[in-house]
Amino acid sequence: MPLERARRSLVAGLIAWMIPLEVLAKDASNVPFNTGVFSGVSTPAIATQNFAWLVTGICAAIFVVVVVVGAITIIRFRKRPGDDDREPPQIYGSNPLELAWTVIPLIIVFLLAIVTARTIAELQIDEMPEGWMPVTVVGHQWWWEFQYPEYGITTANELHIPLGEAGAGRPTFLTLESEDVIHSFWIPLLSGKIDVIPNRNNHLWFDPLETGLFVGQCSEYCGTQHANMLLRVYVHTPEEFKRWAANQQRDAVENLAVDRGRKIFLTTACINCHTVKGTVATGQFGPDLTHLMSRHTLGAGVAPLTAANLRDWVADPAHLKPGARMPAMGVQGRALDQLIAYLMTLK
Ligand code: CUA
Repeated sequence: MPLERARRSLVAGLIAWMIPLEVLAKDASNVPFNTGVFSGVSTPAIATQNFAWLVTGICAAIFVVVVVVGAITIIRFRKRPGDDDREPPQIYGSNPLELAWTVIPLIIVFLLAIVTARTIAELQIDEMPEGWMPVTVVGHQWWWEFQYPEYGITTANELHIPLGEAGAGRPTFLTLESEDVIHSFWIPLLSGKIDVIPNRNNHLWFDPLETGLFVGQCSEYCGTQHANMLLRVYVHTPEEFKRWAANQQRDAVENLAVDRGRKIFLTTACINCHTVKGTVATGQFGPDLTHLMSRHTLGAGVAPLTAANLRDWVADPAHLKPGARMPAMGVQGRALDQLIAYLMTLK
């Protein structure tokens, strides 16, 4: 039954085509997140999505017209019993027809060009407008560094931003750079994606309309752990954000019970790559750990940040994330427990 088979492939094709509209992604917390490009909750994402709907609508209309005209032609002018084999009369040169198929596509292309230019002009901002919040994003293999120059905060993998106050938005203005290879920063519900390129600063902004957790990921292949270069964005109310920022500005807390672990941390190679503010650890190669435990995942989203996972990670990062640049530190047993106890105090 070729007709039945054709019908089935058509349905399967249509379903496959529709799936990317609503993509559900899962990260370490195992909660499904909507990362569909048609579910935007931020000014630039909504502008992009309206543009996509317009283009899809125009293309769908063209598709329908072509299919309908084609179907009518095939059915109405099919060969009937009794028709002879002579060619029908041929028509050459029709001014109205030629005018129509030149002018109509021109109008469509012109319309799309205007809307494209307007959308790009609206979204592409290279100088930060006054009152926006600047954040510098640094892509690393395979994690994200976030710097808040206004607050003197450096954190990793989980970006916290405020919602605007009483009608007035406080958009976040990102400057993106890379420490090694090309990455791409993408939070589908907040904005389009942008490449993160070594020796070059790119810019992106978003202006969320609701609080909540939004996920994304690196979307440019950047090596073994590209797939685990995940992103989380927490949008807070302005008060919540102020609280978060104030906590991030504190130095690491003192705690006698974890003194031993601290000593281990500060006397091993940990400090060559990690910073803990207020200590001798000022390394830049790995994530800033000053407020490690204020994050919910570790290894750029590869696992929930629990004591057990942290222990597993420090014992041998490659166990959770093969190819991760952090080596196994050779700290074991009791010493490892003390080290983890210390890290757990970095709230
Ligand atoms: Cu970073 Cu892919």
